[in-house]
Amino acid sequence: MSTTISILGIAGSLRKASYNRGALRAAQEVAPSDARIEIFELDGIPPFNQDEDKRPPERVVQFKKQIRAADAILICTPEYNASIPGVLKNAIDYASRPYGDSAWDGKPVAIMGASPGRLGTVRSQYHLRHSFVFLNMYPLNRPEVMIANADELFDEQGNLTDQDTRNRIKKLIEALVIWTRQLQKGRA
Ligand code: FNR
Repeated sequence: MSTTISILGIAGSLRKASYNRGALRAAQEVAPSDARIEIFELDGIPPFNQDEDKRPPERVVQFKKQIRAADAILICTPEYNASIPGVLKNAIDYASRPYGDSAWDGKPVAIMGASPGRLGTVRSQYHLRHSFVFLNMYPLNRPEVMIANADELFDEQGNLTDQDTRNRIKKLIEALVIWTRQLQKGRA
């Protein structure tokens, strides 16, 4: 077996019992043996101010370092007002700056998202895909993991309790590992 694929997991919610943070923990549990998922919590990333572009706070320096060290990115996001939650978009913007020093460039990325609503974050996920084009990231097309009716699938602490959803997440991570290896091979 070739080397382990390191994946950086990022949730677009700071909520303690967040479904999306819970889904990321589930991803860690079901990841194949040739992959490892580390989670970066977005707490402590301040609102981006372009005046401070070249003097990022330590938390952002660390964030960019971890993005660069990862072979692939896994984003698990809620949908806020039919789009990307500000806390996630802010972090994406911060790690893309200053101009010419984006940490996202060329990274394979997979998306999933959980919502108590019936659309399961589809609008938020497609807005993310739009940004990934500009960021020159390589989003995995399939499978799409939209976790609808999340209030029925997670417990009160935000832990995923539904086996079918766990299986869907497993397939996503397996596909991300294959996708990442294909891209690495193409670059070698
Ligand atoms: C929401 N929520 C929501 N849900 C959805 O499916 N589509 C939406 O457009 C919105 N909009 C929205 C806006 C704001 C400001 C909030 C706070 C919430 C509900 C959202 O899916 C729910 O709060 C989830 O529990 C958030 O994900 P976490 O924190 O559990 O991961």
